Amino acid sequence: MKPQNIYIGFTTIILFLFSCRQGSEKELPVMNSIQLENSILSLTKEATNLNVPWDLQYDRINDAILFSEIGGAIRRLDIKSKQVLLIDSIPDVYQQRTLGLLGMALYQPENEQAYLYLSYTSKKDSSIFSNLYRYNYNPTGRLSNPVQLLQIPGNTGHNGSRIVISPDKKVYWATGDAATDTYAQDSTSLNGKILRLNLDGSIPKDNPIANSYVYAWGFRNMQGLTYSTEGILYTSEHGDAIEDEINLILPLKNYGWPLIEGMIDTEKEKAKVKTLAIEEPIKSWTPVVAPAGLAYYGSDVIPEWKKSLLLTTLKNQSLRILSLSDDGHRIIDEQVLFQDQLGRLRSVITLPNGDIYFCSSNRDWNPQKGFPKQEDDVIYRLRVSEKTHAPILHPQSVDTQPAAKDGHALYEAYCTSCHKSDGEGLTNTFPPLAKSNTVNGDEKALLQIILHGVQEKNMESIKYEGAMPGFSFLTDAEIITIANYIRTNFGNNAGKIESSSLTSLR
Ligand code: HEC
Repeated sequence: MKPQNIYIGFTTIILFLFSCRQGSEKELPVMNSIQLENSILSLTKEATNLNVPWDLQYDRINDAILFSEIGGAIRRLDIKSKQVLLIDSIPDVYQQRTLGLLGMALYQPENEQAYLYLSYTSKKDSSIFSNLYRYNYNPTGRLSNPVQLLQIPGNTGHNGSRIVISPDKKVYWATGDAATDTYAQDSTSLNGKILRLNLDGSIPKDNPIANSYVYAWGFRNMQGLTYSTEGILYTSEHGDAIEDEINLILPLKNYGWPLIEGMIDTEKEKAKVKTLAIEEPIKSWTPVVAPAGLAYYGSDVIPEWKKSLLLTTLKNQSLRILSLSDDGHRIIDEQVLFQDQLGRLRSVITLPNGDIYFCSSNRDWNPQKGFPKQEDDVIYRLRVSEKTHAPILHPQSVDTQPAAKDGHALYEAYCTSCHKSDGEGLTNTFPPLAKSNTVNGDEKALLQIILHGVQEKNMESIKYEGAMPGFSFLTDAEIITIANYIRTNFGNNAGKIESSSLTSLR
């Protein structure tokens, strides 16, 4: 190389370093373009190698994404440089399966103390708790001054939870029913509720029940909570075997769990609501999708999505765009993106500039086939772009119901999320159906399990942690098709069951 060229090369490096120091935006390779009616969006990976990020918040002062990880870390992703910093670790988080550091909300007013609200599980002796904490959030350094605002019963599942702060400075906390059937309908219990607090944790004077945090009740396990620019509060909630829900939250309303599942559509449920006022969800899914994070999109930047709810799902592994009616009271359309491509998706937020950030949850307790990938977990960004990059994706209309005779489709819709596509289950959590004595054995015993579910049966000397919900809402033909599918797949080779075997078991 001639001395002159060395000089030019050197200057280029200096200029390059200088431009990085200026904090200019680091552009990352576009993974996909998403073609909407008119807009084009680009999908990029903004942060990789994370460990189950659970909630994302926008820190407008640092122009950063603040996120929690289930193990107890709070980290910050700088939007321009893409650097990820550890802010703090919460000491007494109890992490196991779905438990740990979960929802959070950042309250960042002009010229006043900023607060970070956290929801996490803790354990003392053999008791599990869900906690709501408030920390001072110091933009440059660690968290300080923790105040425990509430502590309620927790359990090995159904601990919720998300937090939002409304423009009128109230904290809403969506609590789980702690897998205890009596809590959600008991207005004196704080589980299975939307709770409403002042910023300091006290009970607001204008709460619907005097001297009570309870704002609305009848919930099972909410994993999404968002406040629209029009001031409407929405939740997403996990059903049992059926009826995952989106609810529009109003004060003093009862959302039905466990008396009513999803829509009021069975004879039993219709009889119940004659004596009890129950609010129906604005959307329900059967087969379930395991709805998680929820964010309202109100920006003009992506006009096709203006006035919609963005929902990440764990099952079906997708980002869903739920378009709302003008008054925000109904969901009028549903579109699906990324189904099964990025894995389980946990949380989503929209930024004031119209960008969307969402994250995967592939290193959690229930990874799906082919995941985690090496770079998991990932925070992704969707942003409007000028030009397309291959491969180009189009949002899909929703998946149709599987046909009653299609064993594979029925198994995928109702059983795969736990027992997995290959029937191998998940060690100590979901039993394998491959070479299972129950599956290959007595017909009636097997049909009983599929119809009515099973819990804490010690199988082959393993105690499985989860419970299996009942599937009696399926038709006889569907149940028989599924039973015969599992008896003749995964290396099983048992005789076919006739539908007459089912008649006496309903
Ligand atoms: C939410 C998770 C989940 C789903 C969905 C689910 N199961 Fe299960 N299943 C379980 C768990 C957990 C057990 C073990 C329960 C126990 O004994 O404690 C189980 C047990 C079983 C057993 C008994 C296995 C044995 O070896 O004894 C069969 C059979 C079975 N499930 C079939 C199905 C079929 C068919 C479907 C779909 C219609 C299904 N399951 C859906 C969680 C699930």
